[in-house]
Amino acid sequence: MAPARKPVIAGNWKMFKTASEGAALARELRPKVSMIHDVEIVVCPPFTTIPAVAQALAGSNVGVGGQNLHWEQHGAFTGEVSGPMLADAGCRWVVVGHSERRQLFGETDEGVHRKAKAALAAKLSPIVCVGETLAEREAGRTLEVVGRQIGGALGGLSDGEIAGLVVAYEPVWAIGTGKTATSAQAEEVHAAIRAQLAKSHGQKVSDGLRILYGGSVKPENVKELMAQPDVDGALVGGASLTADSFAAIVRYRG
Ligand code: PGA
Repeated sequence: MAPARKPVIAGNWKMFKTASEGAALARELRPKVSMIHDVEIVVCPPFTTIPAVAQALAGSNVGVGGQNLHWEQHGAFTGEVSGPMLADAGCRWVVVGHSERRQLFGETDEGVHRKAKAALAAKLSPIVCVGETLAEREAGRTLEVVGRQIGGALGGLSDGEIAGLVVAYEPVWAIGTGKTATSAQAEEVHAAIRAQLAKSHGQKVSDGLRILYGGSVKPENVKELMAQPDVDGALVGGASLTADSFAAIVRYRG
């Protein structure tokens, strides 16, 4: 019998919310989810909003994450932010390799791997994102593409490092489009990711890995997605921008 995996529900605020807007959202969210202890709850604001949100959520059951990081700790890298800087600002998590970073900012599997390692070194839990485009899905290449991304990002990491991260499967065609993968489509890919990890790192590591689904997750569809055996949480964009909808997702058990 595989061990129970504690679900993770993470909100990705993307490039929304100033510091004061973010703090207000955090203050509104906090009491709505304070009674939920069987889910790890995370919000990922823009860099400049992180300190205000971390302050608003201090001592609560909601963790804070960054949306990206550089793989070096410091240096001449204009415009970049490092893992130790995020940790110092109050983060315990960081999104790595989101499809918007891959598609719009040229991030590669190799870069995602370096960032995941840097996050772990800074004691942040990386949320490593993978997912196929619509063209790749229609060409029947979903499992091949996701398999390559997982191998590229996680290959060479130790068992302990894998235990410190989570994976988010986010089909690119479902992000911000209102088109959610069916629970069967999500489960197929999640199970394939878990099987790949069992091959590379053994059954125990694979059984413990939390795999989140992302792409148009809403209060209306979260329950069915979470009912799948290999879906261990959600990475939520649009629906994380209001306290009511994000709290409803966190409280998917009803
Ligand atoms: P969405 O975004 O929920 O707005 O589709 C998900 C994501 O990009 O993480």
